[in-house]
Amino acid sequence: MKKIAVFASGSGSNADKIINHFSKNNSAAAEVALVVCNKPGAGVLKIAEDNNIPTLLIEKEKFFRGDAYVDDLRKMGVDFIILAGFLWKLPDALIKAFQKKIINIHPALLPDYGGKGMYGRFVHEAVIANNETESGITIHYADEHYDNGDIIFQARCPVLTNDTADTLAARIQKLEHEHFPAVIERLITGRS
Ligand code: GRF
Repeated sequence: MKKIAVFASGSGSNADKIINHFSKNNSAAAEVALVVCNKPGAGVLKIAEDNNIPTLLIEKEKFFRGDAYVDDLRKMGVDFIILAGFLWKLPDALIKAFQKKIINIHPALLPDYGGKGMYGRFVHEAVIANNETESGITIHYADEHYDNGDIIFQARCPVLTNDTADTLAARIQKLEHEHFPAVIERLITGRS
């Protein structure tokens, strides 16, 4: 059974779906063994607690200038890192230790609308301002640049003429919840 660490610092709705997928589906493939967060009080911590999943609150100095928690993750036997609303750039030490084992989700169709500062509503505002007719989600391997690694999966949805950042965000969040856990499972099991 593979061990997943979910890195998240927001409300944790994707973390919640992933946790549920691997516990309720009773998937023998993997379990969420740890939730890693950099924000005290983040909603995701309560979700972890409610599901009896250990949490690790990380601090900046150790993450960026220390060992990036590689030793701690190794000791806990973590195999895969899933980024679900984690906004810090990943230090080299972490990328090297988990080559092709770190997966991010982005709420737009990369390579467009990615990069520093492109997160949350900023993404949807930019998509709407550019009169795009389509947006979606991208699941990709993470590397040392923001939103840059190889793309694993994309799903699309329309952008409607009367969309606001909020209505578009809701449509995209639905896509994330629908696809992210299943894509993770396929990657871990090697099934397509
Ligand atoms: C998601 O939109 C994801 O694409 C982005 O961060 C958001 C996390 O949302 N990387 P939530 O905390 O899972 O609700």
